[in-house]
Amino acid sequence: MRNYSSHIEPISLGPVIHIANHSQRFNLGQINPAFLAEPQIMPQLFSRRQTFFTNLLGLTDNSAMSIPTHTSQTLAFIGGGNMASAIIGGLVKQGTPANQILVVEPFEETRQRLISQWGVRALAQADAALKEAGLVIWAVKPQTFKEAAHATAVFCQEALHLSVAAGIRSSSIAHWLGTERVVRAMPNTPALVGLGQTGLFARSAVTPADKQWVERVVATTGALLWVDDEALLDAVTAISGSGPAYVFFFIEAMVEAGVKMGLSADQATQLAIGTFTGASQLALSASEPPSVLRERVTSKGGTTYAALTAMQNARVSELFQSALQAARQRAHELGDEFGA
Ligand SMILES: NC(=O)c1ccc[n+]([C@@H]2O[C@H](COP(=O)([O-])OP(=O)(O)OC[C@H]3O[C@@H](n4cnc5c(N)ncnc54)[C@H](OP(=O)(O)O)[C@@H]3O)[C@@H](O)[C@H]2O)c1
Repeated sequence: MRNYSSHIEPISLGPVIHIANHSQRFNLGQINPAFLAEPQIMPQLFSRRQTFFTNLLGLTDNSAMSIPTHTSQTLAFIGGGNMASAIIGGLVKQGTPANQILVVEPFEETRQRLISQWGVRALAQADAALKEAGLVIWAVKPQTFKEAAHATAVFCQEALHLSVAAGIRSSSIAHWLGTERVVRAMPNTPALVGLGQTGLFARSAVTPADKQWVERVVATTGALLWVDDEALLDAVTAISGSGPAYVFFFIEAMVEAGVKMGLSADQATQLAIGTFTGASQLALSASEPPSVLRERVTSKGGTTYAALTAMQNARVSELFQSALQAARQRAHELGDEFGA
């Protein structure tokens, strides 16, 4: 079996002076190991993803560019919960030295777990050690952001800031921290397995080199895209930020239906999860849009046709879309509730 992942360079978060072929430095995402055995599929997937990252950066494959040296390689995480762990895991697995990562996490048990699992340094509260951080990653709950910012701002005036907190607008963050070098991100939990989707928005003071540093960090957790209107991050929240929960919801419904039809829970779970995985990989590797793939398995009068007709009659698509609108609305409200 040929391991295509061996083509991916470990990502260094330190000073980057010159990158000859920038697109190659990005994590192309971890692929289901089963796919590594499919040499006819892998090059296609990789070329699609590579094109995606190349387009994202506005570079050609052979482009060369200079990136200014960052003064500090240290990354500080404020909050060491689920999302911080996902990013830290991605960074360490891709070669970032653990001693370059500092975490502020008040909960002793979480701190000890981060230290033993990843070997990072962890503090119970913000202190002068944070001054060495060039990039500060905010991974606290929206309701605790303001309080955490007030305790931390004084130690990280020179840093670039990256927030993954849902809803909290970059204007609030800039106001609390007293710096305009703020990037807002909306990741999702498949980041835990290197298959995350992250939407990013940068305030105008963020430089191209700052953005590239953020990209190198976020790319360790999967794919990313930039939006140039911050309001679109609420849409990203509704689609991919909350999205894994919708997928789990549909898996649960499929399992429940399977059990009612006489399958065991294990059998139904295997079929439901495997179908989501397989259909997603198929959609990713196919050149046709999902609507064509759907039509291809829906012959008139057949079983899939019966299911889809029932969904159409129950207006499932409209209901689902209004559920996503509710998520977007809630993301907007969080900004009002917990913002400056
Ligand atoms: N999980 C997701 O699916 C997801 C997706 C996209 C975005 N996000 C965003 O990511 C952010 C973090 O979410 P999460 O799921 O990682 O939450 P989490 O697991 O609860 O992690 C937040 C961590 O921050 C710690 N904390 C609280 N106050 C702090 C302070 N003043 N200074 C430093 N650390 C503090 C918490 O400690 P205690 O436990 O002691 O309070 C907790 O360990 C949230 O804003 C969320 O909106 C999450």
